[in-house]
Amino acid sequence: PFNPMVTLNSAVSNIISCLIFGQRFEYHDECYQKILRLDTECIQLTGSPRAQLYNVCPWLLEYLPGPHQTIFSNYKQITDFLRGEIIKHKEVWDPLNPRDLIDNYLTEMEKKKSDPEAGFNIEGLVVTCLDLIEAGTETATTTLRWGLLFMIKFPEIQEKVQEEIDRVIGQSRQPCLADRVNMPYTEAVIHEIQRFGDVVPLGFPKKAVKDTTLRGYFIPKGTSITINLSSVLHDPNEWETPDTFNPGHFLTENGQFWKRDAFMPFSAGKRACLGEQLARQELFLYFTSLLQQFTISKCPGEEPSLEGEIWFTYAPAPYRMCLSSR
Ligand code: HEM
Repeated sequence: PFNPMVTLNSAVSNIISCLIFGQRFEYHDECYQKILRLDTECIQLTGSPRAQLYNVCPWLLEYLPGPHQTIFSNYKQITDFLRGEIIKHKEVWDPLNPRDLIDNYLTEMEKKKSDPEAGFNIEGLVVTCLDLIEAGTETATTTLRWGLLFMIKFPEIQEKVQEEIDRVIGQSRQPCLADRVNMPYTEAVIHEIQRFGDVVPLGFPKKAVKDTTLRGYFIPKGTSITINLSSVLHDPNEWETPDTFNPGHFLTENGQFWKRDAFMPFSAGKRACLGEQLARQELFLYFTSLLQQFTISKCPGEEPSLEGEIWFTYAPAPYRMCLSSR
């Protein structure tokens, strides 16, 4: 019996690490594991009512103890780590052979060095890296954690996914992205994991930079705005059984994949998720690879809950599972 959280988080975060740092980190790298732990703690604490209170009266809480201080301290340690990685990159930086996002950003900084208004500077680079780590790790890890939990809870659905994997991919090779189009049931299950898991219920907060009128509603400059994605993903006018885990939401009568307009876990519009394509590829590859190799089940005597916890994301409560080799 084990909790899959740390392993999944390490695996998923390494995709972003390859983009940002041009390398993956070993799972036993203590320094990197610490960064992941600090980051998860931030996302967890951000959803707590006491941390939310800081948003209401920051001038008061700034000097008082509480979870917001842990969040600040964690971000300081994470950004120090990022600054260290950027310094290491600068030492061997070769603009003719860029390895990753940091190298390319350094090139852009060099090109724009006479134009401070362009906004390319070390602080910008640190925050860009942090943004990608935060936006791209926790979200995908939590979605996969929901996915494995649903497979424990609904073994008959797991069996149907495995039947499709065996038929389309087999056991002699790894899944690849080209398999997606031939696997409507698995695609439907992954979409339903995202809909039912509802990982980012309120999108990312935005702020109106000027007085705005939207469909008759006046939004004064400076107002924080969040989008209730959860209401769309559970809208009874859009979904046949909104409160049930039902891959049929994404299947036509003859078993073909059915794309639904109300499927919006990545939000919509200009500021929708930048990493949607990457995330969908990751979810497909991790999910099918795991179910190709293993059958997932609950641990004897344990009944994991379908009730989630409100972090910055909506995450499953910690659970343990068993894997048996197929
Ligand atoms: C299952 C995984 C993911 C989910 C459910 C998800 C969901 C979201 C949502 C709901 C937003 C907010 C959009 C809005 O408020 O309108 C967002 C923004 C964003 N996401 Fe993702 N995301 C996922 C994975 C990723 C990945 C892998 C990356 C990595 C590149 C990423 C990068 C971003 C960025 C940079 C933003 C901010 C975009 C902006 O403000 O312009 N996301 N994501």
